[in-house]
Amino acid sequence: MIELSLEKARKWFTEEHEQRLAPLAEFALGELNNQDRDAFGKGWIGWPAADHSALYRDVDAIAADFRAKSNATVVIGIGGSYLGAQSALSMAKPAFTGEGGHEVIFAGQQLSPTYHAHLLQYLDKREVTLVVVSKSGTTLEPSAVFHTFREYLEKRYGAEEANRRICAITDAEKGSLRQFADERKYVTLPIPDDIGGRYSVLTAVGLLPMALAGIDYKRVMQGAARMREELSKFKVADHPAVKYALARHVLYQQGFVAEALVTYEPRVADFAGWWQQLFGESQGKDGTGLFPTMLRYTTDLHSMGQYVQDARKILVETVLDVHFSDEPELAVPHGLDEKNAYLDGVSFSRLQEVAVESVMVAHSEAGVPNILIRAKGDPESLYGELVYFFEVACAVGGYLMGTNPFDQPGVEAYKNEMRSRLKA
Ligand code: PA5
Repeated sequence: MIELSLEKARKWFTEEHEQRLAPLAEFALGELNNQDRDAFGKGWIGWPAADHSALYRDVDAIAADFRAKSNATVVIGIGGSYLGAQSALSMAKPAFTGEGGHEVIFAGQQLSPTYHAHLLQYLDKREVTLVVVSKSGTTLEPSAVFHTFREYLEKRYGAEEANRRICAITDAEKGSLRQFADERKYVTLPIPDDIGGRYSVLTAVGLLPMALAGIDYKRVMQGAARMREELSKFKVADHPAVKYALARHVLYQQGFVAEALVTYEPRVADFAGWWQQLFGESQGKDGTGLFPTMLRYTTDLHSMGQYVQDARKILVETVLDVHFSDEPELAVPHGLDEKNAYLDGVSFSRLQEVAVESVMVAHSEAGVPNILIRAKGDPESLYGELVYFFEVACAVGGYLMGTNPFDQPGVEAYKNEMRSRLKA
């Protein structure tokens, strides 16, 4: 369940704005549902509600096989081929369980020799399988890391056994990774043609890492399908994803050029990384778009709080206040000294609640618009709900700005420059 509150942003985004811009909002939501416009990137819209039994069968079979063969799977990918899976695992697989079990380790999300060399050394102590995720099959970081780790597996297990320990998630037909995987007879899973990287977490790209980590990914899909169904019932004027998109749009026009997704729960912090890519790549184009950043409260209140409160007012805070059904009870003990007596016996949930309310009041009164998105549920369903909610909001926001939310022409520049230097 997701609720949107604009109360602490109303000074800047008024009901009058909403009424005046209603036709623009109607247009933007219409563009999302218009199959003649950018249809190529819109495969994600109906995806959660479609029948995926064949895909689920394949994902379950590969996960079971890799979990039997190994106790660590290295998942290699970057951007949309990494951030979703990482954020799903962080949200649905709590830290410090002490259960050991199957490890999912991400690699190829940067080019650090230290990270990858140390990981290779660590893998000597583990039984290893490998998943390489690349839609294009030619992205520099995962290509370099995949071939390094593939060679490690071939040396360690022999070429034939290594081939049985590698899964490639890539385009169903084209690309050099597809060709390479077919030649070596790797197991493969497809990335649908009409779903771009940053919208792909609910495809095999995210589902296989979730299954490997022991997450009930079908509940994730059910959550996304439920959100799709719920959103379809709203009129534009009450549609929470459209209202969020419109609020950001109006705030941007008033000079708020950056938006921080504020989280209070470490399990949700990586979700902010996925959100950042979604909005950054979808809307940061044609010289426009809010700069998406993230703040992890209350930790960052002790480093960035001063800036947010007192510096130039360029920032919108979108507070993602998430409450999980599996949240344990924890309270401060009784019998504290006089100075700390106000904390005596208070639950940590209450402390979080008061922190959210107090920070929103302090920051909005200082001139920082605060949008609140409150979400409750079990971690798997909620993950699916949040993904779908923000994907809709992001795409609608792109259309409000008059841009195509499904392309990313800007990311090619650095790649071209790197390729030409490396080829020289
Ligand atoms: O969202 C996107 O399209 C990008 O972030 C890609 O996911 C990223 O560049 C990785 O691309 P690929 O999956 O082709 O290796």
